[in-house]
Amino acid sequence: MTFDRRVKIAPSILSADFADFGREIRAIEDQGADWVHVDVMDNHFVPNLTFGPPAVKAFRRHVTTVMDVHLMIAPVDPSIDAYAEAGADILTAHVEAGPHIHRTLQAIRGAGMKAGVALNPGTPAEAVAHLLDLADLVCVMTVNPGFGGQKFIDMTGKIRALREMIGDREVHIEVDGGVDPDTAPRVVAAGADVLVAGSAVFRGGSVDVPEVYGSNIAAIRAATDAA
Ligand code: DX5
Ligand code: ZN
Repeated sequence: MTFDRRVKIAPSILSADFADFGREIRAIEDQGADWVHVDVMDNHFVPNLTFGPPAVKAFRRHVTTVMDVHLMIAPVDPSIDAYAEAGADILTAHVEAGPHIHRTLQAIRGAGMKAGVALNPGTPAEAVAHLLDLADLVCVMTVNPGFGGQKFIDMTGKIRALREMIGDREVHIEVDGGVDPDTAPRVVAAGADVLVAGSAVFRGGSVDVPEVYGSNIAAIRAATDAA
């Protein structure tokens, strides 16, 4: 993975057909996805339950781009090796998930993955001020995590502050939640380079009509080109 700040679109397979992940992943990659975003939820840190390491390992067989795994679980540390073994390229943990995020980020890199740190909407940018040399990605949540299809919460001020704090470090700013052709240009103008989108990519399409995924991805990309 080489670092660049070009806009990358990372469809969240939370909005895919849960009975058909392999074909769904191949379809979004064929249709222009840059990364594949995998939302892991534990029914404890967030009020929803998705999948764990064995499923993520099975997804890996279909991902040819970058597997971006977003952990919405607590605690994180006992599961880090399992996600490395499952083949995550990037493993993101929430700053709110426990008292030792610094140790968690060290452990993620120590296990051979890129380390991400996510911020809930209520958490200020300053929460990562002392973590930027340990992180490869900061994920700014623009919804309260747990579900796809929620309304975008404007965090452009936080994104701007992070962009300033990051300076010339090779740290991506990812935005997750309610990203669509209307909101994408706003977050890109503020400094984001990775756009997670679930509903806005999968809506109206299916593995049998994958061109719709392609036009949805293209619409987000075109909107950001103008930003
Ligand atoms: C929210 C997840 C997101 C979400 C994005 O808890 O982390 O990745 O599913 O979905 P949309 O794009 O539908 O808001
Ligand atoms: Zn996510």
